[in-house]
Amino acid sequence: MEHSKPSYYITTPIYYVNAKPHLGTAYCTVLADVQARFQRACGKDVKFLTGMDEHGEKVAEAAEKNGFDSPQAWCDSMEPAFRDLWETLEISNDDFIRTTQPRHIASVQKFLQALLDRGYIYKGSYDGWYCRPEETYFTETQVRHHEEDRVAAGESPADPAHPLCPDCDRPLERIEEESWFFKLSEFQQPLLDFYEAHPDFIQPETRKNEVISFVKGGLKDLSISRSTFDWGVPFPFDDKHVAYVWVDALINYLSAVGYGAEGDEAADSLAFRWPAQVHVVGKDIIRFHCVIWPALLMAAGLPLPERVFVHGFLTVRNEETGKAEKMSKSRGNAIAPEEVIDLLGVDAYRYYFMSDVAHGTDAPISWGRMRQVYNADLANSWGNLVSRTLNMSMKYFDGCSPVRPADLGGASPVRDACEGVFDRYAQAMEAMDYGTAASEVLAIVSAANHYIEDTAPWALAKDPEKAGELASVIWNLLEVIRIASELYDPFMPKISAEVRRRLALDPEPSRDLRNACEWGGLVGGQPVEKGEPLFPRLVD
Ligand code: MSP
Repeated sequence: MEHSKPSYYITTPIYYVNAKPHLGTAYCTVLADVQARFQRACGKDVKFLTGMDEHGEKVAEAAEKNGFDSPQAWCDSMEPAFRDLWETLEISNDDFIRTTQPRHIASVQKFLQALLDRGYIYKGSYDGWYCRPEETYFTETQVRHHEEDRVAAGESPADPAHPLCPDCDRPLERIEEESWFFKLSEFQQPLLDFYEAHPDFIQPETRKNEVISFVKGGLKDLSISRSTFDWGVPFPFDDKHVAYVWVDALINYLSAVGYGAEGDEAADSLAFRWPAQVHVVGKDIIRFHCVIWPALLMAAGLPLPERVFVHGFLTVRNEETGKAEKMSKSRGNAIAPEEVIDLLGVDAYRYYFMSDVAHGTDAPISWGRMRQVYNADLANSWGNLVSRTLNMSMKYFDGCSPVRPADLGGASPVRDACEGVFDRYAQAMEAMDYGTAASEVLAIVSAANHYIEDTAPWALAKDPEKAGELASVIWNLLEVIRIASELYDPFMPKISAEVRRRLALDPEPSRDLRNACEWGGLVGGQPVEKGEPLFPRLVD
């Protein structure tokens, strides 16, 4: 099949079903959504995937605990919590995968068969440490190093029968069972070579260094099956075993683009979509995405994703210890997105987390900062510019926008400010440096607010000889608003569409953003609408 636009395939992690989404999980999804919207605006054929991770022992246990007949029924009951929140948050995913869907089960089985056929898995016996809450295996060395670090930091030694999990500090269990193993140990050098040949594979840089030193420390073969419960994808060649939930989960990225399906359409989809352009993940699951997943793909003879973008955690202060802790449902410190939406509204919620919360590092949540950013950037700058300008346009031009002047408003500080804004913004967006991208837009908005003060259109309006100048000033301002509405669109889709509607423009965002940011796009001479304030000021 012919594809007229290049593919941009972007994914979020698939979320565990046992907990409803919270601010932290939503953060990851919004981050990916902003990129998906930006890439669509740049003319890419985007596939944006999110979904639910439904297998594993914990899910089966939760189903029973919650009185459901089957784990499937439990998962089904959790689906609306995710779908509804993503809809509320204006998440523009093109697909929603669930690991219990037949397309995924077929895909996992095909993948396991490929690993067997290519000689990368074998049957053995697993004897080691397991973190039940995180469903993660740890080697003796990892566990020992973690214990040494803890003791060195002045913490009391753990019970040797239950040392603590290197990821979440909860007690580990010793488990012994027959298992299928993946020959991860064979991929140490190929992975190191790959990281070197693809310096942008893991971003940001600090995470890359972390992964490289982990891999240099040596890789052990990985247990990839479980036989003590059956809530998982059965091995096609050994039905006593189900796939280890992490291997099952990672394969979702292939399942959604046709890997497990037969026929031309599936083959076309796979060829067009794979490899993915970017997997967006949190720092806790970096080893799975940057070590295990690439090794599995190499073993299956498939190309590797272009990039894994790793973000930090939203943290909350633990009142007892005074330490910043990852926000999570199991720690009981999660904030529901609805609480923030009630305060800010959806678009400002997205704007705050995307523009003010640095994506590479951990970031504490602060209600005070939310209000501050909202009032400064949105109420006082962006919202104010739109309402003042539309108000003046209506008042001075009979409810309309002025017609585009022949000289496109002439030379002006606002036109200068917009010069090259697309390039500066796009470079930051590509790097997922949304803080910088948003500040580029705010810079043109602020330039326009200053321009209002400097040109004082209300004074020009009093002098009939200044009618031409007044038209230029108002047109210039509306032109900045038009451009800013396109650049803000990935962050604030609803409000940006509303701004374009008030300007009598197509509410749909441009699919050629570079062109849309060229000075001179606004034809004018159309009825405009002032409307309600976009961001009513929050009082403290
Ligand atoms: N099911 C696995 C992912 C499998 S992907 C093949 C999983 N699920 S999760 O629900 O626990 O987490 C999903 C994502 O949410 C992770 O990227 C994680 O980092 C992110 N977050 C969970 N809590 C978070 C914060 N407090 N802050 C930011 N992101 C957080 O892991």
